[in-house]
Amino acid sequence: MTEPAQTPPAVTIRCRLDGPLLVEGPVRILDHLGNAFVLPAGKPAVALCRCGQSSKKPFCDGTHKQCGFKADQTAPPPEPPSG
Ligand code: FES
Repeated sequence: MTEPAQTPPAVTIRCRLDGPLLVEGPVRILDHLGNAFVLPAGKPAVALCRCGQSSKKPFCDGTHKQCGFKADQTAPPPEPPSG
């Protein structure tokens, strides 16, 4: 699913190569009880662990660099405009 180029989504999630998910935009991150995590102020993105090895879950603490986590999936390229 592709968003129109003129209207950027409020939140963007970037998959970092062999690393975390970077969440950009106005978000709240809640625990399983519905309580909000305190997010770092003044940062443009929040890095969420997807390797499962962080000691600060759900946030990335950089451990993915030591544990050999690999993730290089790519999205399909956008289709050319029709017409
Ligand atoms: S993705 Fe960075 S510690 Fe898991």
